[in-house]
Amino acid sequence: MRVHVADHPLITHKLTVLRDKRTPSPVFRQLTEELVTLLAYEATREVRVAAVQIETPVTTTVGVQIDEPRPLVVPILRAGLGMLEGMTRLVPTAEVGFLGMVRDEETLKPTTYAERLPEDLSNRQCFVLDPMLATGGSLGAAIEYLFKRGAQDVTAICLLAAPEGVAAIEKQVEGHNVTLVLGSLDERLNENGYIVPGLGDAGDRLYGTV
Ligand code: PRP
Ligand code: URA
Repeated sequence: MRVHVADHPLITHKLTVLRDKRTPSPVFRQLTEELVTLLAYEATREVRVAAVQIETPVTTTVGVQIDEPRPLVVPILRAGLGMLEGMTRLVPTAEVGFLGMVRDEETLKPTTYAERLPEDLSNRQCFVLDPMLATGGSLGAAIEYLFKRGAQDVTAICLLAAPEGVAAIEKQVEGHNVTLVLGSLDERLNENGYIVPGLGDAGDRLYGTV
């Protein structure tokens, strides 16, 4: 598994505003989209392209275009939905599938309540979106779904991650082609399974329920 932690002052600046508990939902949503677009640039570094011949006003030349089958973007509902627009802005031809998951706040185990993915993911490059990688239960289950359907490789984009979650995913995906692109690798999980310093509950902060 490859792990790429963004190291860019613009990303750290935006994450600092995102973490601040005084940041209201509309600003939180806007920053989430901007951060995803910045992280997507790194996450799509290995996206498959095919050569294409075009005519410029001056001559004929060979460029590239994103290859078939199209990449699949999978936001994990609810919080991952806040990242979708930022990703599709950069890769507008991607197909989008959905996974709805919620973590039991006592046991920290995820339950899947919705699934809308193409049946066959053979040879597909998949990009999973979830702002928070805490214990790794939700992301791990999502990655498992995708590989069961035949995905070729999975790249997850997360705004914040705990070292415990990264270690759990690494153990789970051994032998598979997985990349994590993270805005920040935070210090740890607390006793309630929240990322420290973190930003609190991403879904609540995005959708105004706090
Ligand atoms: C949050 C977050 C991740 C998950 C991370 O979702 O968006 O999906 O928790 O925790 P884990 O790594 O320990 O599984 P939550 O279950 O709160 O649902 P929501 O997106 O609907 O708020
Ligand atoms: N889910 C969140 O939204 N935040 C955390 O810190 C952990 C899980």
